[in-house]
Amino acid sequence: MSNPKTIPDLDRFAFFHGLPPAFLQTWKRNFSRMSFAKRQRLVFPSSCSDVIFFVLSGKVKIAYTSEDGKEFAIAILSAGEVYSEHSLALATAIEKTEVLYVSMADFKAMMDECPELARHLVRLLGKILRLTNDLIVDLAFRETSSRLARVFRRTMQGKNDNAIYLTHEELASLSGSTRQTINEILRHWEQQGIVALHRGYVVLLLPERLWEKISHEYS
Ligand code: HEM
Repeated sequence: MSNPKTIPDLDRFAFFHGLPPAFLQTWKRNFSRMSFAKRQRLVFPSSCSDVIFFVLSGKVKIAYTSEDGKEFAIAILSAGEVYSEHSLALATAIEKTEVLYVSMADFKAMMDECPELARHLVRLLGKILRLTNDLIVDLAFRETSSRLARVFRRTMQGKNDNAIYLTHEELASLSGSTRQTINEILRHWEQQGIVALHRGYVVLLLPERLWEKISHEYS
């Protein structure tokens, strides 16, 4: 079994691909590793304020909450993905999760050392911006069933099985809807043979039927 404190090579993250291997090797010492249990909030040592974290394994929900406790999830991060504490979103492990993290101070020093890293950051922030724009368009123009189909499509990207391991509550949060509405839509799709519903996950039996529903929409 690997030592939990060992820092793996950074080139396992797409974010670092193409950067000089000598930098990646020396930067490893700036990183720490931490594990979180299912449903645990990602909180990092206070000595290391404002961290950037990289998901090694597991899944992390990125969400904002309203004053009255409602939650809107904007993303579910999987292994390989990156996020920052200063985005002010709540990050919660939705399954047992391990991350690598680096302090903002060290990350800035790394960018000074290797300006190419800043270009990688611009690319990542561009992707986050595109995702945010998609969410705005979804909320402004699309019905809940359409938003739910899009959540499924985003979650399926890069996966090679058809199971979506998200609860109805998480799906509601990701679709900007309520659990009751999501239950109704899923039950309707179950009757049509499009999905099979299980405790804690949904299997897409006929995903192409969902993609057809959203293919004609503005994207
Ligand atoms: C939705 C997500 C994010 C939001 C809303 C956000 C927001 C911000 C804001 C407002 C600042 C300026 C802070 C200030 O000057 O006081 C900032 C700076 C910065 N962010 Fe983010 N950020 C996000 C994601 C990320 C991610 C994922 C990374 C790294 C992988 C990152 C890296 C940085 C760095 C390095 C700076 C400092 C640049 C400098 O001062 O040299 N951010 N971000």
